[in-house]
Formats: sequence, C-alpha cells, structure tokens
Amino acid sequence: MAVIAVYSAKGGVGKTTLATNLAWCSAQDPARRTLLWDLDPADGAGFMFALDAPRKRQARSLFAGDIPAHTLIQPSSFAGLDLLPADSSLRELDAMLLRMGQRNRLATLCKQIERSYGRLILDCPPMLNELSAQVMRAATLVIVPLPPSPLSARAFEFVVEEIRRNTKRPPPILPVLSMIDRRRTLHLEALAANPGWPAIPMVSAVEQCAVHRRPIGAFAPRSPAAMSFMRLWDGIERKLAQLAARDRAALA
Ligand SMILES: Nc1ncnc2c1ncn2[C@@H]1O[C@H](COP(=O)(O)OP(=O)(O)OP(=O)(O)O)[C@@H](O)[C@H]1O
Ligand SMILES: [Mg+2]
Repeated sequence: MAVIAVYSAKGGVGKTTLATNLAWCSAQDPARRTLLWDLDPADGAGFMFALDAPRKRQARSLFAGDIPAHTLIQPSSFAGLDLLPADSSLRELDAMLLRMGQRNRLATLCKQIERSYGRLILDCPPMLNELSAQVMRAATLVIVPLPPSPLSARAFEFVVEEIRRNTKRPPPILPVLSMIDRRRTLHLEALAANPGWPAIPMVSAVEQCAVHRRPIGAFAPRSPAAMSFMRLWDGIERKLAQLAARDRAALA
C-alpha cells in the first residue's frame, strides 16, 4: 500500500480539493481499492462526498485504540472508494498524541489499514504540530498544494524543513500548483519558474465540486481540470512505481 498525504501548513490552498479528486482518480482503477482518510476536524472530505455526518464523535478514539478502523469507514457512492471521515473529536487529537508519546501512532494505524486498501490518501489539517510530524513519518509521498504566491513558496519551505526535522527517511515531496490562472502574470511566472511542477487550473468547475458534492471527474470528466487531476494522478502512480522499484532493489 502507499500512503499519499496531501499536506500544507497553510489553510485554503486546495488540500481537500486535491485529496478528494485524487482519491476519485485512484479509484478509477478497479484493482486499486482506495481509502480517503480525513484528518481535519472540519470534515471537508465527508462533505465533498455527500456523506451523512458521523453520528458519534469517534474519529479520535481510533488513535487511542478504542475502536478498529473498519467501524468508522464508510463507502462512498463510487466503486472502490471508501472514506474514513473526520469529526469534531479530532480537535483534541494533537494533545492526545502528545500525551500518548507514540511517535509512529499514525504510521501504525496506516499499516493496519494496509491489509484492505492499495492506496490510502490523507487529507490533512493546515497545522505544523505533532499530527503533521506523524503524517510525515507515515507517508510514502507528500503532495503539497501551492497557489502561486510568494507566501505559498514560504509555506512550502516550512513543509520541507518539517519533513527533514521529523523523519529519518524523508518521503519524497511533490509540489503542485493548485490554482493556476493563466491570465495572471504572477501565475505565468510561477509556471515558468517551476516547469516540472504539475498544475491544476483555477476554474469554477473545480469550485463546483463542493456544490455537486462529487469529484469533478464524476460530473465533468472531459473538462481540462478533470484531465489535469488525472494527469497528476498518473504522475503520482509513476512516482510510486519508482519508489517500489527502489525498495525492491534495496532488499535484493
Ligand atoms: N483549482 C481550483 N479552482 C478553483 N477553486 C479552487 C481550486 N482549488 C481549490 N479551490 C477552492 O478554494 C477553496 C479552498 O479549497 P480547499 O478547501 O480544497 O482548501 P484546503 O487547503 O483544504 O483548506 P483548509 O486548509 O481550510 O482545509 C475552496 O472554495 C475550493 O473550492
Ligand atoms: Mg481542507
């Protein structure tokens, strides 16, 4: 299994939009059972997939080991794609993780979930804290959405630094220009300065995901934005294949 964390220390940069759309892209391959795990108490991922709000506030109990993951996992309306939704109990998650003192608690839970899923995508809250440190230790790959602005570039440096500080074997980081408007000079400059970075266009069709409460591929599959998410996902799969080959070679 691969754990793909969608993370930034900055809020409103497109994490949930990326995580939900990439989870949908992943599930298009029937051989790849996908779980989207929402770690943000705001519960954006559950909303985006039109799930009913969880009746019990138990998302944090999973970390304490009080309940198994499968009791909280809900199917989405798309084949091969399940959700582990957030709830407000996650507000106290960070304090609980610090009290527990288990630096790899999230990684351990991911390994347990591994038995049932090929791809696990984490939608992370915009924090630099114990949870974000645990995300870095659990992740196979970290996707960092960056709207093209100098402030985002700064946030990206924070993420790189955070990963170096918290992990012995840092996962690769994939920056993604998450809201590109080709009519704006600053955005064109960001594209030119980072030619290797994937880019998602800033378009109302992407905003409409929160209105339809479905990923864009489900209601506008041929739109340029839907295709840019698919291309991004293909790039992620290629990267995961490289990492798997590297691990096999290291074991041989
Ligand atoms: N490519 C895009 N085009 C247009 N709007 C976008 C795009 N990506 C994200 N948005 C919009 O930007 C807003 C913030 O996106 P999103 O909720 O995904 O960010 P976030 O990083 O998860 O925020 P938070 O830190 O609050 O969890 C939303 O209204 C979303 O619809
Ligand atoms: Mg979010």
